[in-house]
Order: sequence, then structure tokens, then C-alpha cells
Amino acid sequence: MARTSRIPGFFKHSVDERRRLVAEATDIAPHEFDAASARGGLDVGTSDKSVENVIGVYTLPFAATLNVRMNGRDVIAPMVIEEPSVVAAASNAARIVRQGGGFTADADEPIVAAQIQLLDVDAPEEARACVLAAKSEILALADRAVPGLVARGGGARDVVVRVLGEPSDRMIVVDVHVDCRDAMGANLVNSIAEAIGGRLAELAHARVGFRILSNLCDRRRVRVRCSVPMEQLATDNMSGVDVARGMEEGSRFAELDPYRAATHNKGIMNGIDAVVIATGNDWRAVEAGAHAYAAREGRYQPLAIWRREGAHLVGKLELPLALGVVGGTLRIHPTARLALKMSGAQGATDLAMIAATVGLASNLAALRALASDGIQRGHMALHARTVAIAAGAANEMVERVAERMVELGDISLEGARRILAHDTAVIGSAATAE
Ligand code: MEV
Repeated sequence: MARTSRIPGFFKHSVDERRRLVAEATDIAPHEFDAASARGGLDVGTSDKSVENVIGVYTLPFAATLNVRMNGRDVIAPMVIEEPSVVAAASNAARIVRQGGGFTADADEPIVAAQIQLLDVDAPEEARACVLAAKSEILALADRAVPGLVARGGGARDVVVRVLGEPSDRMIVVDVHVDCRDAMGANLVNSIAEAIGGRLAELAHARVGFRILSNLCDRRRVRVRCSVPMEQLATDNMSGVDVARGMEEGSRFAELDPYRAATHNKGIMNGIDAVVIATGNDWRAVEAGAHAYAAREGRYQPLAIWRREGAHLVGKLELPLALGVVGGTLRIHPTARLALKMSGAQGATDLAMIAATVGLASNLAALRALASDGIQRGHMALHARTVAIAAGAANEMVERVAERMVELGDISLEGARRILAHDTAVIGSAATAE
């Protein structure tokens, strides 16, 4: 069955019903959902084996982003996130984009650099020449450290030597580029860095320093683009043309001001991190790489920009994204495995394109809201639910209390408690009267 990510009215269903709908749309057996998400997916015994000093398991909401169409195919993207409105906003933006044909994405080969710092280097240029002259030996030595990766078609690809700082620093760095295939690559690349450090020091007549990957994996970039017919951006109060102009102005604001760029990029990372976390990937690595890349020209810049082109608004996102679909957390976390299956990702590069697509959808949603009604209207309606739950509302009372708070314009714990006490009393007296 061809996957569809378009499931109208999805949010109105119960959680069980939604699982059934996603299972149907993604060819996952319904029982896999129940098994994978029981007790938040990860049990305390397994957790205790994976990190230290475990005292419990901490769970977060697991949701489905709908309507995503990327490179001509439908994707139901998994998101794990605690912030209200991000999932709804990304799904809504993806629905708008699919009307113009959907997102297009492409990605580089999965290259990550192993960095070997060499110290006490008196003649940096000579040291560089000696290391480069031994390139094939270094690549072979690196490959010997990761036979499994080489068997899967990956391995060391290139050696780059850079002289760092002033002559008084006496420091060079050797970057060995490694094709990590479907792995995120941190362990593989670190193993290579440690395996070849000694030989590099001999070749450069140097002392070996740090041996570790770089999270600024700018050779493993992903690019996403969308072109939205302006009329699709219209809101109840504004024309699509005006919203598109506001979004372009908002993009320029981020291009000109790092203070705004940080918030702009936070909105993009709302989408990306949620997919990264859902699929058991290392979001700290992703964040480090994204922000270092945003600052690559010496000034912090937006990762996505928007321009009007004819009757369309065009968005373009580019960032480094090192994700894996094998190893790591996926080995132990059943929900992460299920989320990956649900995404339909064909490999690590495909997963990176999906995550970046959700990032661009999140950015579109934020900019559209900021260019029209402002962010608080939609946000507060959803936030009201969290406040209602905190005040003690359960089941259908959550929606009822949240809606009443929005009507009254008072979204506070106190307000929620007052409404809850009042409605519970009304329901109680109605039941007594019956
Ligand atoms: C909130 O989580 C994200 C936004 O601030 C992003 C933005 O301002 O572009 C709404």
C-alpha cells in the first residue's frame, strides 16, 4: 500500500485510534505500537545498563507529524517533544506546502571528520607535506580500525592537514574524512582517530594531542526547499501576499540580526530535534553542528531563508546533520525503533532529509504566525491544556477547562482550578438531580 501522510481529522481521534491510523498508513502492525510504547518504551532495567546512577525512566510525548510530502513521497514523521503546538504547526505547514507539490531535499555523502591534534610542530609546512605524502597508508590504517564499516561500504576517504594559530602555537590538525554510511559515526570516527594518532605524530615529528570527531560535520549537509503559492499562506485576517511579504521581511530580520537569527533557528530546531530524539539520535551533536554552521562566516546566521519569487514564497534550509539508523540508542529503545520504522526512512541520509524537512515546516509555521496573528494565539490555546492538566483536569475536562480559560482570557493555574471546581460542582449537582 502506498503511504499517505494525509489523515484529515487525525487530532480528533483517541490515542488508540490514532495509533491504528498511523499503523495502517505505514504498514506497521498495531500491536507493534502497543509493545513499543508500553512504559514509555524503555524499562528501568535496560536504562540501568545504558547510563550510570539511574533512578528511573523519564518519558516525553510521542507524536506524528502529518501531511509531509518530500521528494514526491508521503512521510509520517515521528516527533518527541514537550512543547505544545509544534507538532500541530509543522503538520499544518506541511499541508500548505504539499499544495504546491511538497518539499524537495537532497544530502551529501555521510562524511564525518576524525580530528587528530598534533603539537610541538616546529616546521608545520614540512609536517603537512609528510602527512599528505603518506595519505594512502593513513587511509588504510584508518580502515583497519573499522572493518565492519568498510564491509558495509564506508571507511576513510580523505586526509586534510591544517596549520592552526600562530607559529608559537606549534599546532597542526589532521582531519580524516570518514564515510559513515548508515551510522551517526561518533564511535567509528573516534576509533579511527585513536588508531591513527600515533602514526601521524611519527610522520609529523610531533606529539599527539586530542583524537576525536568534529561535530561540525559540514561535509554531511542536508538541503531542503519548498515553494508555496502565496495564496495558500492567507489567514482569516490577511491576504497570502501580505503574509508572504511579512515572512520575507522576517527572514531578512534574521539575516541582519543574530539575536533574531537565534530564535529563528530555535524554531527550525523545534522540528529537527523532535525527529532526532524520536529516532534515538544524538540531539546535542546535531545542535552543536547546526549552530557552529550558522556561525561559520563569523556572524551567526539563519539556517533557512525565505524569498518571494513570482507568485510563490520560496524557503531554503541548509545545515549539517549527522544521524544514524543503526547502533546507538536504537539497539535498546523500542520506541525509537518504531519511530524510525514509522518514518519510512531508507537510511541515515534519508532520515536526515526527513528531519530537515520537518525543520523547514516548523520554520514556515513560526514565520507565518509571526507575520500574521502573532505566535501566542495558537500557542496559548494549546498551552491552556497543559495548565488544565496541571490543575488536576482529566479526560474530557482537559479540553473543557482549556477552552473556558481561552474564552475568559485567563490561562493560569488559579483560573484553571476555579473553572475545574465550578464545573465539577455543576456536573455533581446534575448527577444528584438525575
Ligand atoms: C518557539 O518555540 C519558536 C519560535 O520562537 C520560533 C520563531 O520565532 O521563529 C516561535
